[in-house]
Amino acid sequence: MFIEMNLIILGPPGAGKGTQATFIATEFNIPHISTGDMLREAIKKGTNLGQKAKEVMDAGNLVSDDLIIELVKERISESDCSQGFLFDGFPRTIPQAEALEKNNIQIDGVIELKVPDDEILKRMSGRRIHLNSGRTYHVDFNPPLIEGLDDETGEELIIRKDDEPETVKDRLKVYWKQTQPLIEYYLGNKENSNLDYFSVEGTLSVEEIKNNIKEFLSK
Ligand code: AP5
Repeated sequence: MFIEMNLIILGPPGAGKGTQATFIATEFNIPHISTGDMLREAIKKGTNLGQKAKEVMDAGNLVSDDLIIELVKERISESDCSQGFLFDGFPRTIPQAEALEKNNIQIDGVIELKVPDDEILKRMSGRRIHLNSGRTYHVDFNPPLIEGLDDETGEELIIRKDDEPETVKDRLKVYWKQTQPLIEYYLGNKENSNLDYFSVEGTLSVEEIKNNIKEFLSK
């Protein structure tokens, strides 16, 4: 299947955005733009951006709006984004959402994953990631075929530095203060535009959420 839409997947840290975005990207042939993955890649390569972002990310805080907006503008100017894209982890603040509007980048759909904080704390302790691709697993809820290894490459999975329980609590505080207001922002936009807003219970199983999102996007 193929969709031509500019989409956002929104939700707290650990809500399952990366898990579902990977699925949507494959199922609907749409580029998955994860600012978190892009920043981790920059850190791994030791670029200027990576050096600026590392300390901030390890502490669970947000990288500055200016740096992120430039990063995203550059990414979506690439040819694979001309028919649509899926933002994961962006926008994360009201100024980031406003920057999209100022640059005439229209959003057609928002998918919100709702997960309570206590569930998130449980999930993060079991998360494992494949650094090169951003593929995400959970030791119990979404395990790899072979323990500790990525399904596609067989490379080793790692634990993210910002998944320490104390850092996750800080990330949740940042979410409630700076990112959660985007829900009202986009619900408000829905009244005045053609934006489709879809809210799904992120506590359902990975498969159930996939099916709900698939139904929404296939409308
Ligand atoms: P980022 O990488 O975007 O992290 P995040 O938004 O905090 O989200 P996560 O990646 O932690 O979780 P997720 O929702 O993708 O969940 P996942 O699918 O992995 O950002 C990291 C940092 O980069 C930020 O803190 C910030 O410093 C910086 N940054 C990034 N973007 C920025 C921006 N725009 N502005 C400023 N700074 C920015 O799932 C979590 C776990 O749960 C996994 O183990 C998964 O297998 C499991 N799971 C998933 N779904 C289910 C389910 N339904 N049931 C049970 N388990 C499940």
